[in-house]
Amino acid sequence: MSNTVLQGVTLAFIGGGTMAEAIIQALLRAGQVPSDRIIASGPRTERGEELRARYSVRVTTDNSAAASEADIVILSVKPQALPAVMVGLRGRIQPPALVFSIVAGMPVATMRAGLDHAAIVRAMPNTPAQIGAGMTVWTAASAVTEAQRAQAQAIVQTMGLEMYVTQEDALDMATAVSGTGPTYIFLLMEALVDAAVHLGFSRRQARLLVIQTVLGSAQFAQQSDLHLAQLRNQVTSPGGTSAEAIYQLEKGGLRTILSKAIWAAYKKSRLLGEQARQPLEGPLRVDGVES
Ligand SMILES: NC(=O)c1ccc[n+]([C@@H]2O[C@H](COP(=O)([O-])OP(=O)(O)OC[C@H]3O[C@@H](n4cnc5c(N)ncnc54)[C@H](OP(=O)(O)O)[C@@H]3O)[C@@H](O)[C@H]2O)c1
Repeated sequence: MSNTVLQGVTLAFIGGGTMAEAIIQALLRAGQVPSDRIIASGPRTERGEELRARYSVRVTTDNSAAASEADIVILSVKPQALPAVMVGLRGRIQPPALVFSIVAGMPVATMRAGLDHAAIVRAMPNTPAQIGAGMTVWTAASAVTEAQRAQAQAIVQTMGLEMYVTQEDALDMATAVSGTGPTYIFLLMEALVDAAVHLGFSRRQARLLVIQTVLGSAQFAQQSDLHLAQLRNQVTSPGGTSAEAIYQLEKGGLRTILSKAIWAAYKKSRLLGEQARQPLEGPLRVDGVES
């Protein structure tokens, strides 16, 4: 990771919510950007004050003032808020600036049209970015310069692992897999903890057992060249406890339900993008028919 590409760069976060905070934390922890080079803009002054108190960043409620002095404008509002936000930012972003969007479902072409700005990176991070253990999938428009691409990469690398893709649809796919992924894992962990408590462990003991098992299994899988099914088979002896448990999981349709959940999240990501660009581009078209 380069520690110079973000030197002297001012970053403006348009939207200072959960993900913006995760990125701010990651940037500061990595020492990539000093706090006085970060501006967080959002509608609530109390939230701004919270961010200022925690990270000593600059805060404002004026999106266009924040964007106009930034070298990198990070769009971190909800998809539904983006159309109105883009109207306010249009013409206020410096021509050589980079726009870095983490807004789910919002295509680069829509942002280019909405902002009248071509240098756009679209990224899909996830919340473990807060502790530098995130997974970010990102792509860059052709107008993004090599220097800006290096800056974008430096930002995503502060959050954890990163994967660059050339096909933009992979961003909606990543939204469903890694962007939304922590919620699936937390739900599974919650269910495992509840089951362990049901068996008789205290909640503290159950939490320890479950978190370390998930963490250890993930690290083991990451360090192994074996297929996940082979790792699972290693602990599935004939007539044993794993086989008994797996039988119940398969019978309950665990794979099917996970697959359905991920497809639903993918479709929702695309729909959010459609809905958010509707005010900018006209009526929503579904299968070639206007809604
Ligand atoms: N959460 C995730 O795991 C995750 C992962 C990857 C990508 N994302 C994407 O990241 C984006 C932000 O998500 P989030 O979870 O951080 O949401 P969030 O916590 O709701 O943050 C959005 C922030 O935008 C602010 N905001 C609302 N209207 C605004 C406006 N007109 N101008 C400026 N700021 C405005 C909100 O302020 P108020 O609270 O005052 O309304 C809030 O602080 C979304 O587009 C999401 O798709 C999220």
